[in-house]
Amino acid sequence: MTPKYHIMTFGCQMNERDSEILAGMLQEMGYQPTAEVNRADIILLNTCCVRETAENKVWGRIGELKALKSENPDLIIGICGCMTQQPEMAAKVRRRAPHVELVFGTHNVHRLPELVGKIKEERQAVVDIWETEGSIVENLPSKRIEGVRAYVTIMYGCNNFCTYCIVPYVRGRERSRHPEDITREVAELVSEGYKEVMLLGQNVNSYGKDLEPGTEFADLLQKLDIVDGLARIRYMTSHPRDFNDRLIDVIAASEKVCEHFHLPVQAGSNEVLKKMNRGYTKESYLELVGKIRAKIPHASITTDLIVGFPGETDDDFRETLDLLEQVRFDAAFTFIYNKRSGTPAAEMSGQVHDQVKKERIQQLITLQNRISQENNLAQLGKTHEILVEGVNSGNPDLMEGRTRTNKLVLFGGTPEMTGKLLKVRITESGTWHLDGELDLSKSSRSLPPL
Ligand code: SAM
Ligand code: SF4
Ligand code: F3S
Repeated sequence: MTPKYHIMTFGCQMNERDSEILAGMLQEMGYQPTAEVNRADIILLNTCCVRETAENKVWGRIGELKALKSENPDLIIGICGCMTQQPEMAAKVRRRAPHVELVFGTHNVHRLPELVGKIKEERQAVVDIWETEGSIVENLPSKRIEGVRAYVTIMYGCNNFCTYCIVPYVRGRERSRHPEDITREVAELVSEGYKEVMLLGQNVNSYGKDLEPGTEFADLLQKLDIVDGLARIRYMTSHPRDFNDRLIDVIAASEKVCEHFHLPVQAGSNEVLKKMNRGYTKESYLELVGKIRAKIPHASITTDLIVGFPGETDDDFRETLDLLEQVRFDAAFTFIYNKRSGTPAAEMSGQVHDQVKKERIQQLITLQNRISQENNLAQLGKTHEILVEGVNSGNPDLMEGRTRTNKLVLFGGTPEMTGKLLKVRITESGTWHLDGELDLSKSSRSLPPL
């Protein structure tokens, strides 16, 4: 019987991409995927620790797996990803959950085959956490998520040390992949049928600074813009401090880079931004938004926001609400500040009461939902090019796709349209998605079939 694997991924797209590599390595070792966790011979939990809730989810799943291990002592349960990189975490996992026999981190994903081999040989737990990052390992196998969009990690780590954030501690310093490796990967993805790439990094705007000779994110976008057969390029995440004029110009002039800017602002108060170590002010952020809109008037702008950062007063919070009104974001991910041990903000005075945080986030969500709805209402009657992603999971009679501005559109169509660029006229608008109908009067760009 072919051995089976099951991977549970928590957290952001960087983890999704790492899980594709874990899957690729397991397949090369002869394992096949299974969606049924109780049929797996190896289960991996690729974890996140950005907020406590993320960690709690992982602990919950670990607990649930104990019974499976009792039933099948040969089952290998492993944990990897950001959570395991925290000090003392490997020991804590082994103590609290001895049924988890494999523990590794974010810097040695490529070592999975050896670690699994070791467990099988020695039949005892293997813990291998690297405290610092090694060099980037290219050409690892990978079993990608099927669809029209592929993730491409362009850089690892983060040097920003925003005072609330644990990512730099668990993902190490910034390391960029060479542009030739990235362009080759993207060209291969196109030949496999992918239409869109999502370039990943914690701060893609500092891409290339560590390379010799130095290069910039804008240079990379220019190289990828001419990859034949590729329809769209997206990227995540941009740091507002490092978004320079040249990058805006390159995006404005490019054919494939989508007009969607995810620019996490986090807060509207200069005092709070300073304490967060974000390196920009409310005014400079607004100036950046103004520049983007001057060059690309139809651009959509989305953001991340944190409420209840230590010392945030009612006045500070009002600055965030005011910023929302001024920018009129298309969407926002909103978070309640969560203390992360080892980060400077965890030690700051003026921690905000939970009740106040809850009231603030509610106010923020209500305001943002109104703005999102109004922005979407303004799309009524407009025609957008959408890249069709597949059948809508909620209503199998509908197809779904995204505009270049990253708005989800549902429309009546057929599964064969998946992977095509079609023109759709917007007929209804909601907070989270738009409804539309095929606009047959407009010719659609043709692409090779999937
Ligand atoms: N590198 C990206 C950036 O700079 O925006 C995103 C990193 S993080 C994975 C995604 C979001 O989580 C952040 O933008 C921030 O809003 C939120 N976040 C990070 N640490 C947090 C914390 N301790 N409490 C609440 N939200 C947090
Ligand atoms: Fe965290 Fe800031 Fe780095 Fe984003 S830029 S990963 S928020 S430290
Ligand atoms: Fe979480 Fe790590 Fe991503 S902490 S958000 S999985 S970089």
